Amino acid sequence: MKEKHYDAIVLGAGGAGLMCAAVAGQFGARILLVDHADKPGKKILISGGGRCNFTNVEARAETYLSDNPHFARSALSRYRPDDFIALVDRYEIAWHEKTLGQLFCDGSARQIVDMLMTEIPRDRVDVSLGTTVREIARRDDRYRVQFDGETAVAPALVVATGGPSIPKMGATGFAYDIARQFGLRLVTPRPALVPLTVPHERRLFDTLAGVAAHVTARCGAAVFEEACLVTHRGLSGPAILQVSSYWQPGEAISLNFLSGHAAGQLRSAKASQPKARLATWLATLMPERLAKALSQNLEMTAPLGTFRDRDLDVAEARLRDWQIRPDGTEGFAKAEVTAGGVNTRDLSSRTMMAASVPGLYVIGEAVDVTGWLGGYNFQWAWASGFAAARAIEEQLGKA
Ligand code: FDA
Repeated sequence: MKEKHYDAIVLGAGGAGLMCAAVAGQFGARILLVDHADKPGKKILISGGGRCNFTNVEARAETYLSDNPHFARSALSRYRPDDFIALVDRYEIAWHEKTLGQLFCDGSARQIVDMLMTEIPRDRVDVSLGTTVREIARRDDRYRVQFDGETAVAPALVVATGGPSIPKMGATGFAYDIARQFGLRLVTPRPALVPLTVPHERRLFDTLAGVAAHVTARCGAAVFEEACLVTHRGLSGPAILQVSSYWQPGEAISLNFLSGHAAGQLRSAKASQPKARLATWLATLMPERLAKALSQNLEMTAPLGTFRDRDLDVAEARLRDWQIRPDGTEGFAKAEVTAGGVNTRDLSSRTMMAASVPGLYVIGEAVDVTGWLGGYNFQWAWASGFAAARAIEEQLGKA
């Protein structure tokens, strides 16, 4: 069987793998970049509604979930949002900040994939798409990756095959199989940034599918003020996706429908509009159908002036802390990312290399580092890909 030799084999041509192959190639390494998909960067192409939320200027270790909360700090500090912005600017890709530090292309996510593909020096990087990995072995400090009819051999193997979220796009748990093969531990993977399902009998909102409202959503210590969307199966929208990453089965989440409004709202409303009904007053803050459903559930359909202040305080407290107990999530099929993954305690935070398996690197979503919604996950893909590329360069320098 034909054998080809490289400095590193990168498995997965998503955000992390493309960045790693580009940077390592520019440092002079001979790289093989492999993906089973027929196109690179498929998730980049669909991201951000087709405009790719390519980074977040607020990215820092605290905006990521991990069993090992400080792990992401080193890589994030050595490849910052500004570094990626400088790259995007060099390619004259127009962008804008949408909200909360989230940067999007003005045009199309395709520009980001094209930019990364252009960054890959083709004289040093072989790109092999639509390629199935048959077997991986390590012998004499070399990784041997077998494809149909060909074997690639290299002292470094970079696992950048992501997590299993959205399997219909070709996402797999392959990174975990490789991790197990080489004795790396896993933090149980789970769907994150995912809609939550609410059982029928607990649904206040049965008739409200499609209605959105601005809320503060809480799950334990996690608090996000953004939009919440009622779905046919439960709840979605940015506020819910954010808390879903923290949600544990059995836990309740809390929604504050009076977010940003000072305490004592209902008493003031009663004083100024005693004949108004709660639903009418609430409808100045949220969609009418939701206002009506909330006031019916609170059994407050009479004019505000007919209620005691004490009752209004109780109603206001509930509107500020509306407890909902989801029974699950919509799963990997709908999850924007996978939380958990390769245990960071088995990886170097500086190089992303496995401590006990020289030359084996794991980057991107495959690692137990999961960003908030809003460009944080791509920033992790770029930063971890860059860290591994630098380490491969250092290895080359020593060779
Ligand atoms: P990624 O999954 O991108 O790439 C892995 C690659 O490995 C794929 O190309 C896959 O084909 C390949 N692969 C898998 N198994 C393989 C195997 N067995 N053999 C060979 N190749 C294999 N994030 C963000 O920051 N901003 C955003 O706007 C969005 N938007 C968004 C929208 C949607 C709908 C989704 C699903 C996700 C997002 N994300 C996001 C999250 C973001 O897409 C994600 O975190 C990164 O793509 C992760 O990059 P990786 O390179 O680690 O994995």
